[in-house]
Amino acid sequence: MPQAGLELVGVHKQYHTVQAVCGISFTVKQGEFFSLLGPSGCGKTTTLRMVAGFVSPTAGRILLDGRDITPLPPEKRQMGMVFQNYAVFPHMRVFENISFGLQIRKKKQHEIEHQVQAALSQVGLSGYEERYPRQLSGGEQQRVALARALVIEPRLMLLDEPLSALDKRLREEMKYWIKRLQSELGITTIYVTHDQSEAMTLSDRIAVMNNGRVEQIGTPRDIYEQPATRFVSSFIGESNMLQGEVVAVENDRITVAIGAAQVKTTALRAISARQSVTVMVRPESILLGEAASSLSWQPLVGEIVSEIYQGAIIRYEIKLPGDFRLIAESHNINEREIFPVGASVPVGWMPDSSIVLME
Ligand SMILES: Nc1ncnc2c1ncn2[C@@H]1O[C@H](COP(=O)(O)OP(=O)(O)OP(=O)(O)O)[C@@H](O)[C@H]1O
Ligand SMILES: [Mg+2]
Repeated sequence: MPQAGLELVGVHKQYHTVQAVCGISFTVKQGEFFSLLGPSGCGKTTTLRMVAGFVSPTAGRILLDGRDITPLPPEKRQMGMVFQNYAVFPHMRVFENISFGLQIRKKKQHEIEHQVQAALSQVGLSGYEERYPRQLSGGEQQRVALARALVIEPRLMLLDEPLSALDKRLREEMKYWIKRLQSELGITTIYVTHDQSEAMTLSDRIAVMNNGRVEQIGTPRDIYEQPATRFVSSFIGESNMLQGEVVAVENDRITVAIGAAQVKTTALRAISARQSVTVMVRPESILLGEAASSLSWQPLVGEIVSEIYQGAIIRYEIKLPGDFRLIAESHNINEREIFPVGASVPVGWMPDSSIVLME
C-alpha cells in the first residue's frame, strides 16, 4: 500500500461549550514524521482522533491523498493508531492483541498468521506470540501496541503519547527505536507528545499547539531558532525574554532599548520604531566577559547573582540594571567564561542569535 499524505483544512471540534480544536490546518507529506506538540488540554488527542475517524469535526475537512475522508468511519481509513493511556488488551495474548484488527477485517486465517509474524518481526518480538502482556516489560508492551497498529499495513500511523507510561531510560531507548522503525518502513506518521525533546528528536516537522490552535509549524531547527510567538519560544527550550522598545530598524537588524541600555537583535517580520517588543535570547547564546566586549554593540553590564554547576556547563543568573534577569550558560572548559558570584560582567549576544517576538 503506498504511503499517504494528509491534509487538514480549517478543522474545528466543539464539545458543548468547550472549543477543543479551533480551526487548524496543516499538511503532512508522504513518509514524513510529523508531531503535534503542546501542553495538556491543547487539543492534540482530539486532532488525532479526528484524523483516525473516532471523533467527527464540527467543521472543516480532512483529506488523504487529496480525497475527502471526513465522512469515512475509522475502519475505512486504514490508519494504525496507538492510543494514549492504554496500549494493549491485558486479557489477550500477544498474538490475539496483534491480530485483533485483522480479525475484525475478516481476513483469512493463514493471512493473519503471516501478517502477525511479519509485524512481530518488525518490532523485534518474534517468538513472543503466546505471552500475556503482564509477562512483558513496559517497552515490550509498547512494541506490541505498535505491532498491532502496523499489522493492518496502515497508510498513516497515528501515535498518541506512546512512551508516556515508560520510565525515562526506556523512553530514551524507545524514542530512537521508533525513529529507526519509521524511517526503515518510510511510513507517514503523526506523533502526539507534550515532551519537546521527544518531538525535537523524532520529527521532520512539528506543529506547536496551544489552546486548540496551531501556533507554528516547522522543522525542529525553525521552531527552536525562529519561534514565531512568545508561547512557542517559552514552550520549546529555555528562553530569556526582555521587554523593550524599538529604537531603530535597518533591514532585519533592530536596535531595542532595554531600560537605559540598547541592544542589537533581528526581526523575522516587519517592525517599526517605537514599537513595544520582547527580545528573546537562549541561555546558550548569551556571551559574557571578553566575548561580549568584542561585539559590534556596547554590551550590557550585569551582576552574577548565582551559579549552578552542571559539569560541562555552568548556569549563571544575571541581574541587569532595571531589574531585568537573565539565565546564561558558560562552558566550563573555557576559563574566560567563568566568573565568581557578585562579579560585574559585560553581557551580550550576536544579533543573529536573538530575535524580536511579538505576541
Ligand atoms: N469528549 C469530550 N467532551 C468534552 N470535552 C472534551 C472531550 N474530549 C476532550 N475534551 C476537552 O477538549 C480539550 C482538548 O482535549 P485533548 O484530549 O484533545 O487534549 P490533549 O492536548 O490531548 O491533552 P493531554 O496532553 O492532557 O492528553 C480539553 O479541554 C478537554 O477537556
Ligand atoms: Mg491527549
